[in-house]
Order: sequence, then structure tokens, then C-alpha cells
Amino acid sequence: MWGNTMENNWIAPSILSADFARLGEEVDAVLNAGADLVHFDVMDNHYVPNLTIGPMVCEALRSYGVEAPIDVHLMVSPVDRLVGDFADAGASYISFHPEASDHPDRTLQLIRKAGCKSGLVFNPATPLSWLDHVMDKVDMILLMSVNPGFGGQSFIDATLNKLTYVRKLIDESGHKIRLEVDGGVKVDNIAQIAAAGADTFVAGSAIFGTQDYKTTISRMKSEIAAVR
Ligand code: DX5
Ligand code: ZN
Repeated sequence: MWGNTMENNWIAPSILSADFARLGEEVDAVLNAGADLVHFDVMDNHYVPNLTIGPMVCEALRSYGVEAPIDVHLMVSPVDRLVGDFADAGASYISFHPEASDHPDRTLQLIRKAGCKSGLVFNPATPLSWLDHVMDKVDMILLMSVNPGFGGQSFIDATLNKLTYVRKLIDESGHKIRLEVDGGVKVDNIAQIAAAGADTFVAGSAIFGTQDYKTTISRMKSEIAAVR
């Protein structure tokens, strides 16, 4: 299975919980502390009841010198117009919520054509049947373990069964697809989440809310290693 070696288990700090006044330094700090990719939450006050950052901030991080992959999580509707903007701004992954797009298959194709990796995101109550006909067009499946819009919420336990189900789908599909989880991930539940099948772990408040990012990320990685 894709996530069964430690190099394939990625920690993705969500910059939603970073100090935005010092964003470049905060991103450098988590990368130096062992983070594998930068999770970039885009909220539009329409698809979700919150408003955050757009392509200009992604571009600013690239100009500042960030070379790690940037994992853009679009919580916006409509989706398509922003795909090109984020690709031009240096995004590596672009994920969106299928019900927020009129034509999810087209959006997936747009993302890959723009040179990025494509992702589909599922809210806790979103049916996984959106995956039925697009497994060959998806590079990442992101399961939300909270309802999107805010950091610092509690992990919804039903996500564990959903992860196990999607892990099986991915393994049976034969495609190389990452399985990411987002919301309420912490040092003390990450082992269980890894065991359920995730290989990419978004954590915002659990990393940026601690004093020593390196200790927190190392603890997360050793928790994951213990179940691999
Ligand atoms: C929520 C965002 C998450 C959020 C996670 O809508 O998609 O990425 O930052 O925050 P924590 O890890 O604090 O639950
Ligand atoms: Zn997110």
C-alpha cells in the first residue's frame, strides 16, 4: 500500500493556524521542523462561512523562497476560475469539493492540464460515490474529519471507517492516489488515523498551537511509524 513506508507518510501543517503577520517565517519554521508539504486553506465566505487567503499569498510564499509542495485546499464555489490562478501562483496540489463544482470531471482535468496534482475533498456527510467514475483523474483524496471552515475543531470519529473504505478503493484501483485527512488531527489520535489508512496528515492548531514545532512533528511521525 502507498503509505506503508515512512517517506510516504506526509505531515502537512495547515497555515490557517499560523501567525499570518509572519507567514513566511512560520512556513520556514514548520518545514525546518520536518513538515513535508504546506497545507493552504482557501475560504470564500460563500462555500464556507469564513474568508482567508488567495493566489497572491501563494505567490508571495514562492517569491519568499518556499520550495516545498504547496497543497491548496479550495473551499470555494465556483471552483474553475481559480484553478489557473493557483497554478500560476505556484500551487503543487489543488483540491476541491466536488459538490462546489458544476462539472467535477472538467475541474479535475483543468487542474492536471495546468500542471498540478488534482484532489477531491469529501465533507463528513458527502457521499464517496463522487469517486465512481474519476479514479483515473485524481492524485489525492482528502477526507474532512471536521466540517470545513474553521481550525481547532474536534475530529469526527466516523472518518476512521471512511478512511478504511477509501484506502481499499485506492489499493484496488491500482492508481497512485494519496489519502489525506484534515481536521482535528493531533499527536494523540494520529496513530489511529494512520492505521485506518491515511498517508497524508493535515494538522493546523496541533502544530502551530505548540511552542516547539519540531518536537510536535517528530512525535507525530513516531506515532505513525509505530503502526507501519
Ligand atoms: C478546516 C481546514 C483545515 C484546518 C484544520 O476547514 O480545512 O485545514 O486548518 O485545522 P485543525 O488541524 O486545527 O483542525
Ligand atoms: Zn484544509
